[in-house]
Amino acid sequence: MKKKLQKVESQSDSGKDAPSCPEVFFKTNTEAIKDNIIHHLMSFQGRDPERSGPTDVYKSLAYTMRDIMVEKWISTQKTFYAKKKKRVYYLSLEFLIGRSLGNSLVNLGIMEDAKKAIEGLGFDMSEIRDQEEDAGLGNGGLGRLAACFMDSIATLKIPAYGYGIRYEYGLFYQQLIDGYQVETPDNWLRYGTPWEFERRVPVFPVRFYGNVTGYLDDNGRYRAKWVNTTDVMAMPCDILVPGYRNDHVINMRLWTARASRDFDLGFFSQGDYISAVQSKVSSETISKVLYPPDHNLAGQELRLKQQYFFVAATLQDVIRRFKKNNREGFGKFSDAVAIQLNDTHPSIAIPELMRMLLDIEGLTWEEAWDICVKTFAYTNHTLMSEALEKWTVDLLGRVLPRHLEIIYEINRRFLEAVAQSYPGDINRLRNMSIIEEGPPKMVRMAHLAIVGSHSVNGVAALHTRLLKDRLFHDFHRFYPGKFNNKTNGITPRRWLLQANPELAALIGEHIGDDWVTDLAQLRRLEPCADDPEFRRRWQDVKRANKVRLAEYVKDLCSLAIDPDSMFDVQVKRIHEYKRQLLNALHVIHLYHRILRNGGEEIASRTVIFGGKAAPSYWRAKLIIKLITSIADVINNDPRIFGRLKVVFLPNYTVSQAEKIIPAADLSEQISTAGTEASGTGNMKFALNGALTIGTLDGANIEIREEVGEDNIFIFGMTAEEAEYERLNISRTPLQICQANAEINDVIESLRNGCFSPGNRDLFMPLVESLMNKYDPYLLLLDLESYIQCQHRVNAAFLDPEEWTRMAILNVARMGKFSTDRTIREYSEEIWGIPVA
Ligand code: IMP
Repeated sequence: MKKKLQKVESQSDSGKDAPSCPEVFFKTNTEAIKDNIIHHLMSFQGRDPERSGPTDVYKSLAYTMRDIMVEKWISTQKTFYAKKKKRVYYLSLEFLIGRSLGNSLVNLGIMEDAKKAIEGLGFDMSEIRDQEEDAGLGNGGLGRLAACFMDSIATLKIPAYGYGIRYEYGLFYQQLIDGYQVETPDNWLRYGTPWEFERRVPVFPVRFYGNVTGYLDDNGRYRAKWVNTTDVMAMPCDILVPGYRNDHVINMRLWTARASRDFDLGFFSQGDYISAVQSKVSSETISKVLYPPDHNLAGQELRLKQQYFFVAATLQDVIRRFKKNNREGFGKFSDAVAIQLNDTHPSIAIPELMRMLLDIEGLTWEEAWDICVKTFAYTNHTLMSEALEKWTVDLLGRVLPRHLEIIYEINRRFLEAVAQSYPGDINRLRNMSIIEEGPPKMVRMAHLAIVGSHSVNGVAALHTRLLKDRLFHDFHRFYPGKFNNKTNGITPRRWLLQANPELAALIGEHIGDDWVTDLAQLRRLEPCADDPEFRRRWQDVKRANKVRLAEYVKDLCSLAIDPDSMFDVQVKRIHEYKRQLLNALHVIHLYHRILRNGGEEIASRTVIFGGKAAPSYWRAKLIIKLITSIADVINNDPRIFGRLKVVFLPNYTVSQAEKIIPAADLSEQISTAGTEASGTGNMKFALNGALTIGTLDGANIEIREEVGEDNIFIFGMTAEEAEYERLNISRTPLQICQANAEINDVIESLRNGCFSPGNRDLFMPLVESLMNKYDPYLLLLDLESYIQCQHRVNAAFLDPEEWTRMAILNVARMGKFSTDRTIREYSEEIWGIPVA
């Protein structure tokens, strides 16, 4: 039995004296872990340890981890208070966490003890780990970046918090039925999650709708009251994030919507019980479901309410905490608080903080605005202007009337300043205005975020350059000092140490383990690239990973794939700009070549796709159907003797990525240059020894700089060339087909129903977009260069020693792409917090 906790806090919230606490309450040796698992089986789950299954044991092990983490979290939080640290709040509508068990075992350094404890109970750790549902609280790159950031923030001991929404339904579950994507709800919480602490305090009210009444106060200043609102309560759920072996544990605070206690008393008092309960349910829908489109706008009222809901609760929490340590007022707010906005999704925080400072705290506009700009920093994640978030004035004014008023005043003052710098330049004012003239009139959230922040950053060098030169050109001229670059990264703990333990161990044998927290140490592997024995062991690790993936594919898709073939992988959201279609065209070309010449000189390939399309994005869904249809034809064609196989893995998730990436030989990063802000999949593959075939887009450019151009396969237009082609159309798709018979054959096979027997026209919409001279993604213009580049890939793969040498050099030169480096830059250059 557990000893009774004697002391909770040396300085409790209540201020009363509390008894003292043992040094370490939860021990981490094998016996203690085993005892704790048994304890949780009985006391939390009411299970007989002798009759428990893997799911029960998984949960109990997770609770055991949470015990160990919460103890460290309490002492971490106390240190923040004791040292009066500046706090960072990372606001993100998405945290794509994936599974937590493996990560916490690795970071807490107790994997081996936990394995023994689990074996002592008669189970196998990999079986236990497979019981965990992914927390799919994000769409793709943006959400996964936030999760990697949390790991690095904890590892670098930065006093920070992640804030977001605890969606009851994460990103949908993707099934393939007859080759089509079919979505079903991802009810990840149906059996609860052992990782969170649901907290009853602090709970905050969040208001919507209503109207604003203005009045003049005693000093003759305009003051506003927001009245007749509909209120919802925000309840915090904390998920703990441990740093890597450093006793530092931080938390993500994810809000869940609860009906307020006095919700619709009106209905109750009228005896209308059913209506009262119905409106309670509807108020709780705010945190029910994650919106599935990425890089796209739903424009829906519920989405706006989600954004405001989490921002309003977060800022109340931020100010509550600030006031505990700062009793002398708001003068020092931005010295104590930094808020990073992950894209514009939380940018309603800017008028919300203004509202709180003006209407509740009684500051003047100038004081409040100064605090806002010094506190907020905004990260942009897209170069596509159509993906920039906008709300109609109508909707925003109805849901958040006081905020619209504040936004108009921010805009009035901002445009006045612009007009002073550029007298008479009406066009410039129109382009820079936070309000886009209608109809319908829109609020441009990116403009609001730029005006209301002291820092605006892009996520790769090219992205930032294009933000300055194109998308936000006028803003960059007006505020040159605000714009900066923070190239994305990935956490090496999850994406190498945990996902690829055998490669991590091989690396560790040669250079020790310092790379785990100092990824630049991987450079010391470079000499190993010339060591044949090291290469052989490297190949053994890769092959073992490929065998495991082949088994997984067999289980999931009933398809046998050859671990000795090249695993050519493109896994990411399905989007036209990411160009899965270009990859599919190459697959058809390869198929034709094998049919034509028997495939001599062509290495066997398994082309693996995975990724979800937004449910309303029919063209992306048709691309999935095309890939699965190509797979059906090629995988069943006896004439190619299995030399080419195509797989579409259903339901791509973080945990699936952890299986796929370590097994990849070739990483497809082939977006149209100038469209992908950074990409982080590219980094994960390269860190696991896959070679990249890619365009000069996003972080591919920086990966090439690091690994050297001989160790990466680059093709296609630059961002500048792509822009030029869009404007000048030097060659049309038709001319390209006329000049290149092989490309013509590929297009013809889509047209003539070769991959859609019985429905010849099925893929005509894709053919039409490919043959359209205004195709914004310029597929045919890059296809020739892509095919030639794939020939170089093929030749390189036929020389395994050289291929392995290149793979080792890729890993050795990935030091830059750790989120530890990225977060250090954010912390020191944006948040003003030096990192030890
Ligand atoms: P919060 O910062 O108020 O959200 O509290 C988070 C945790 O920080 C609490 O559970 C305590 O462990 C610790 N904590 C909160 N307030 C204080 C304080 O005033 N002094 C020291 N520790 C505190």
